[in-house]
This record gives sequence, structure tokens and C-alpha cells, in this order.
Amino acid sequence: MNQYDVTVIGSGPGGYVAAIRCAQLGLKTALIEKYPTLGGTCLNVGCIPSKALLDSSEHYHNAHSVFAEHGIGLDNLTVDMNRMIDRKAGVVKANVDGIAYLMKKNKIDVLQGVGAFVDKNHLSITPTGGGEAQQIETKNVIIATGSKPTVLPFIAQDKQRIITSTEALNIREVPKHMIVIGGGVIGLEMASVYARLGAKVSVVEFLDSLIPTMDRGLGKELKRVLGKIGIEFFLSHKVTGATREGDTVTVTALNPKGEEVKFEGDYCLVAVGRVPYTAGLNLEAAGVAMEERGRIKVDEHMQTNVPGIYAIGDVIRGAMLAHKAEEEGVFVAETIVGQKPHINYLLIPGVVYTWPEVAGVGYTEEQLKEQGKAYKIGSFPFKASGRARASGDTDGFVKVLADKTTDEILGVHMIGPRIADLIAEAVTAMEFRASAEDVARMSHSHPTYAEAMKEACLAATENRAIHM
Ligand code: FAD
Ligand code: NAI
Repeated sequence: MNQYDVTVIGSGPGGYVAAIRCAQLGLKTALIEKYPTLGGTCLNVGCIPSKALLDSSEHYHNAHSVFAEHGIGLDNLTVDMNRMIDRKAGVVKANVDGIAYLMKKNKIDVLQGVGAFVDKNHLSITPTGGGEAQQIETKNVIIATGSKPTVLPFIAQDKQRIITSTEALNIREVPKHMIVIGGGVIGLEMASVYARLGAKVSVVEFLDSLIPTMDRGLGKELKRVLGKIGIEFFLSHKVTGATREGDTVTVTALNPKGEEVKFEGDYCLVAVGRVPYTAGLNLEAAGVAMEERGRIKVDEHMQTNVPGIYAIGDVIRGAMLAHKAEEEGVFVAETIVGQKPHINYLLIPGVVYTWPEVAGVGYTEEQLKEQGKAYKIGSFPFKASGRARASGDTDGFVKVLADKTTDEILGVHMIGPRIADLIAEAVTAMEFRASAEDVARMSHSHPTYAEAMKEACLAATENRAIHM
């Protein structure tokens, strides 16, 4: 029987990063994955394919609606959905092959099949395609089995017309009318893809704002800007059902007045959150305890109630984000060898890859109000940025929240061009506990979108923005 220091179950961004860090630290490591390709949700049916389609659809939208104002004319513009989806598949393949290469390079044994506990130190691996299960012995286990889409009990998803994000990444036609249930991250990214390609898109959201977990100002501005590409929003609508007949789907909901309204379309995407995935692990055999909402219970070291068994990523508490899972993977590997790693959860940024992009880190204004914290706001709109005027991307703003007394940056919330990358400056500043004035006094190249961060920090520092 093969013996390992560490066995990781699940090859998503949490699992494969944990495996690499374990190997770097000299631990004999195995990685179990039930699917034939590595990379988990993120690389196969999440972060990477969604960004590939967001980029393709953005090119089309710009060619269709933006090029003309730059003096560029195009005749006979077409969309070839087969080619777009095939390209996306190619991008996914390059990424998942890259992970297989990294496993080899780091001498990590990849075991294909469903991993399950036999007891605390023994796992069985049952090949997904059939065949005999093998058993291994391991000193430590890292559970990184991720999550799956939440199912609304009153909606039967046929995965052809009433679909999850996985199928929404594989539609080989432009829908006529896509009804999206849920105005969260997946809902708005996929709504953007298909609206840009010419589909009518209606987003039905239960709460009174979009991306409700982020700073409220962002959802408000995003709703206004996405409205310009034709997406229609139905907030404070409680969905009560979705049915399919032939190629037609009908979604029913109660509007804010309690009246029933109907939406008819050809696709309905259900994107109302994700739940931890632990099916098939046989956690009882090892005595691993669970907590609410199907999550595995862990302590501050990400150890479960069973010594030597850890859990990371979407399967435990916290934001369901690839970079959060990665940090936890590194944290557990270093903990196993006796190091004292640290994660600052407040500084894990959240990003939505619509256009304009949306990003936030630190406390939201709502959280600061709730804590009764005295804060000041510095805000800078992209319409005042020379770089944004040159590219024509003038929607959005950067908002900096700083401590009223000490000027320490407490939160940064942005909506605008390329701010998915710009948020890294805010994370760095906050990790070093910078004051708004610290950033305001740093040179930012001109002309760049990043100058909006400097200007917002200037605005927070005695209202000193230069270009406002
Ligand atoms: P996962 O990536 O879910 O990986 C878990 C793996 O475990 C899977 O491969 C699964 O097959 C395997 N597994 C499960 N059980 C077993 C078992 N018993 N035996 C063997 N293998 C098993 N996050 C971002 O940060 N940025 C984004 O842009 C982003 N975009 C997204 C877009 C979409 C459409 C979706 C759905 C998600 C997106 N996410 C994004 C979220 C991100 O994908 C997850 O937070 C991330 O994948 C979680 O990583 P993980 O390692 O915890 O689990
Ligand atoms: P989400 O939690 O972001 O949004 C779900 C939305 O659905 C919420 O606004 C919620 O109020 C609404 N909702 C819930 N029940 C409803 C109902 N019955 N009717 C109408 N609306 C309802 O979840 P989503 O979009 O499914 O994404 C899942 C996870 O994947 C998120 O936690 C996110 O972190 C991750 N993800 C991250 C991305 C990124 O980082 N760019 C991209 C895509 C997903």
C-alpha cells in the first residue's frame, strides 16, 4: 500500500496549490481528483471559461457598438458561437494541462477517482470510469472538494433550458431571451456575456440590490451601466417557479407588491449561490464533524475536529473564491510542517468581471456604519480621468474609506475599467496599513486608470483631489 505524508482530495485552486506547497516543503504528496482533468470548478467550469467568454463577447460588443465612435467601420459583423465555445474549451485545456505539468514537475502522485475515507489514515480511490478501488495510507489529509450550484427545490433543472453556470458556459447559440435568477456574481457575468452577443436578458433578484454582499454603491452604479447594454433588472422579486415546455421556459415571481409576474424566454439560468460539496467522501468513517449549511467545521488552523485532517476552500466557511482557497492551501501545507502562517481574511478582494469591472477590499461603508466607526470618504469618478476619456470608459469611480482620526485606509471599492487589476494596489496599501495620504503622495504613471486610486486617496486627505 502506498504511503504519503499528505493526501489532498480535490484538484481545484485550493487542492492543487496545497499539493504544490506540500511538495515544496518536502512532504510526500498525493492528489486525488474524480474528474479526468485537474483544476476543479475554477479552471474547468468557473473562473477561466467564464473569463474567456467575457473577453470574446466584449470584443464582439465593442466591434458592434463602440468601434464606430473611433472611426472604425465594419461590414458583415458575425458571431460564430461554435468557434467562440471551442476557443473557450482550448483556453480551459491549456490551463488544466498546465496543472498536470505542475503535478509532474513537483513529483506529486495524481490518483484519478473518487476519494473516500476508510478511516482517519486510510483512503480508498474508486476510478470514476470503473475498475478496482485502490487504498493508500496517509499521515495527513487536506479536504478540498469545493462546491456545487444551489438548487431551488421548486425548480426542476433539466440542464438544457433551465440551467446552471456549467451549461451556460456551453450554449452554442445566442439565446433570444435569457432569464437569469440571481443578481449575484455568476448571474451578472453570464448576463453580460449574452447581452453583449445580442440576447435579451432579464435578471430577477430577490433582494433590493445587485451584488448585495459588496459595498452598496457598487451595485447601484453597476445596475445603471449594465442597463445601457440592455439588461433589464427586476429587483425585490421572489421567484416562485420555472417550467419548460418545448424550447420555452416560463419563470414566475412575486413582485414587490406581491403580484405574480411571468417571464417567458428560451433559457433560464439559475445562479442563486453555491453549496459545499462533500458527497462520496464518507466523512463518518473518519469522524469528521460538519457545521451549518453543509460545510466542514474547521478551527483557526483549518483543522477539522480530527487531528491531521484539514479542510480548505469552498467546502469551509468564508468567501467562495479561488484566491481564498489558494491562500488556505498554502496555509495548511505550512501548518503541517510546523510553520506559523497567517491569512488576513479582511484583505481578500472580491471582483466581478463585468464591464466596467467591480472590485472591493476591506470594510464596506455599511459595515463601518454598523460598527459605529468614524470614517471619511474620498471618491474619484472615471469621467474625470484623462486615460478613461481616451479609451471611452468613463463610467464608475474609486471610493476610499479611511479612518477619520488616523487616516488609515479601511476599505476601497471600485467600479471602472481594468479595476480587477487595480484592486491589487489597494490590497498592498492596506496590508502595509497605509494611510490615504501615503498613497496620495506616491507617484502614479500618467495617464493610467490607477491615477483614480491616487486621486480618491487625495480626496480622502482633506479633499485635495487635483483633477476634480
Ligand atoms: P473546486 O475548484 O470546486 O475543486 C474541487 C474539486 O474536488 C473538483 O475538481 C471536484 O471534482 C473534486 N472532488 C470533489 N469530491 C471529490 C472526491 N470525493 N474525490 C475526488 N475529487 C473530488 N472565483 C474567483 O476567485 N474568481 C472568479 O473569476 C470566479 N469565477 C467563477 C465563475 C463561475 C461560473 C463559478 C461557478 C465559480 C467561479 N469562481 C470564481 C469560484 C471558484 O471557482 C471557487 O471559489 C474555487 O474553484 C474553489 O476552489 P476549491 O479548490 O475549494 O474547489
Ligand atoms: P451569489 O451569492 O453571488 O449571488 C446569488 C444571488 O442570488 C444573490 O444576489 C441572492 O440574493 C440571489 N438569490 C438567492 N435566492 C434567490 C431567489 N430564490 N430568487 C432570486 N434571487 C435569489 O452566488 P452566485 O452568483 O451563484 O455565485 C456563487 C459563488 O461563486 C459566489 O459565492 C462567488 O463568490 C463565486 N463566483 C465568483 C466570481 C468572481 O470572483 N468573479 C464569479 C462567479 C462566481
